[in-house]
Amino acid sequence: MCGIVGYASSTQTVCGKPLEVCLQGLGRLEYRGYDSAGVALVAPGMKSVAWRKKSGRLSNLVQDIEAQPMPDATAGIGHTRWATNGEPNDVNAHPHISQDGNIGLIHNGIIENAAQLKFDLQAEGYTFASSTDTEVVAKLLGKIANEIVESTGSPDLFKAVRRTARMLTGAFTILAVDVRQPGIVVGARHDSPLVVGLGEGENFLGSDVAAFVAYTKEAMELGQDEAVCISGSQVEVTDFDGNQVTDSKRFTVTWDASAAQKGGWDSYMDKEIHEEPTAVADTLLGRFDANGDLNLDEVRIAPETFRQIDKIIIVACGTASYAGLVAKYAIEHWVRIPVEVELAHEFRYRDPILTPRTLIVAISQSGETMDTLMALRHAREQGSQVLAICNTQGSTIPRESDAVLYTHAGPEIAVASTKAFVAQIVASYLLGLYLAQVKGTMFRDEIHQHVDSLKAMPQKIQQVLDTQTETVARAAKSLVNAKSFLFLGRHVGYPVAMEGALKLKEIAYTFTEGFAAGELKHGPIALVEPGEPIVVIVPSSRGRDLLHNKVISAIEEVKARGAFVIAVAEEGDPDAERYADVVFWRPACPTLMSPLVDVVPLQLFALDMAKDKGLDVDKPRNLAKSVTVE
Ligand code: G6P
Repeated sequence: MCGIVGYASSTQTVCGKPLEVCLQGLGRLEYRGYDSAGVALVAPGMKSVAWRKKSGRLSNLVQDIEAQPMPDATAGIGHTRWATNGEPNDVNAHPHISQDGNIGLIHNGIIENAAQLKFDLQAEGYTFASSTDTEVVAKLLGKIANEIVESTGSPDLFKAVRRTARMLTGAFTILAVDVRQPGIVVGARHDSPLVVGLGEGENFLGSDVAAFVAYTKEAMELGQDEAVCISGSQVEVTDFDGNQVTDSKRFTVTWDASAAQKGGWDSYMDKEIHEEPTAVADTLLGRFDANGDLNLDEVRIAPETFRQIDKIIIVACGTASYAGLVAKYAIEHWVRIPVEVELAHEFRYRDPILTPRTLIVAISQSGETMDTLMALRHAREQGSQVLAICNTQGSTIPRESDAVLYTHAGPEIAVASTKAFVAQIVASYLLGLYLAQVKGTMFRDEIHQHVDSLKAMPQKIQQVLDTQTETVARAAKSLVNAKSFLFLGRHVGYPVAMEGALKLKEIAYTFTEGFAAGELKHGPIALVEPGEPIVVIVPSSRGRDLLHNKVISAIEEVKARGAFVIAVAEEGDPDAERYADVVFWRPACPTLMSPLVDVVPLQLFALDMAKDKGLDVDKPRNLAKSVTVE
């Protein structure tokens, strides 16, 4: 939530680059929030911070700046907002400015003691224009910065930010510029993301690396409760008390700026669905030794420790939790240990039973979902090991976990998660097969068979994309006015049904519910009236025939009540052909692999439906890609 970018260069060169970097970065971070956007710039000789902010999309801000250009500068900060505190309008947009106009500040998170701080500042005569917690921090920082000037004779924004950070409770990343120190940008973070981009004669800050990847691929992680001061030539990190931090981890971003562009597609979501074959193939790369056995050395948990694991709890939110539910079926089947899947925000409040032999698997595309982060912190406090399955280098969840297995889906920009879902399933399967290997719960050749099946999936996903797109588009067009949809599935088809329902709800704003097909007669069937569209994931009859037949019976039952049925079924399934009104065909594959192909037409269906309704598929209303507050 909220995208943050900061840039500092030498004070010798006053130019348009700080503004360019901020706007470029905000463009790449807009998926984090798009209620409003703003920038603040400083340069030697400026009397007060130059700033501009506008409600609505970033394009509003850009147009405003084009109409009335901003001055050249040496440092700048930019913000794109997902409103938590105060409605999205021009006044509440960031940056917020100190009372004397010297300091500009942007913020991501929620300041829980803002009301008290505001009350104290008001008592001292400070006035407030907005209803945000951020303005409180800006005014407080301004006051503290001035106190430092009064007591020492010179400004020290770094010290002022640290002092301010110590007074805040809640979650925050703040970035600030001060017109009296135009060569620096200062940041601080607590329970909210911030990474550093290391350039030549210039340095960057960003909510994630996308903010600066067009300028540098060299990056540095910032730890919890750390503050950072960047100038053109230096990056200094301390804790909030001012103690130097010298062991910040550096890393090189593995993807190109071009990977985060639409590349000719209508939307990021379209592009990202079509990248699924590559996301699966890349997530499999480098995970096997010369004998074809799984080699997950990178996860940094010793095989002996894995051998001791007697229970897995997967914690995640949204799409990632459905990937976890799919993984449960496979891991329990392969490893014969219980796997629970829990929504991260429910997990720590129910006093879960955790032991050192419990492995927590935290699945997160962004690596920043606050609910998931809080769940893993709770688990670690109870002595359990945490393994993160994550798509974003340098993010908080892998940094705070005992181990990490990265998905290699590349940057996912569209708010609705697609390619990350298939990559998360693959990574979870690799974990399951690895556990089976170290625990000896499956024969080696069986494991190799599953690995071969996984390796065949990119080509099968491609086949779905090549052959089903038109059928899906036609179905979406014909159902564009439908008021609601039901999605039904059994076994691994059940989480896929829920994910299909979530996609349609998220981006086409259609009321949808995903159900276990077996539940149909226990409630959902009451919703079926003539014409009601029902999407059914039909398992292969080659797997467990029983399951197939039961799902076909469910189709017959809803058809008898006039439903319009879309089936996702294996090529050549005569029952699907006979009973369904439309079939999205899946190429034959083992049951446990089928979610990787079955989800594809459902993602395309949601995409087409949203496009047909004229909606912005990449930025659905009210949603943010990375939910960094609880
Ligand atoms: C938000 C996004 C979803 C995503 C979920 C979990 O709700 O809109 O697309 O699935 O967060 O995000 P994560 O980054 O932890 O996978």
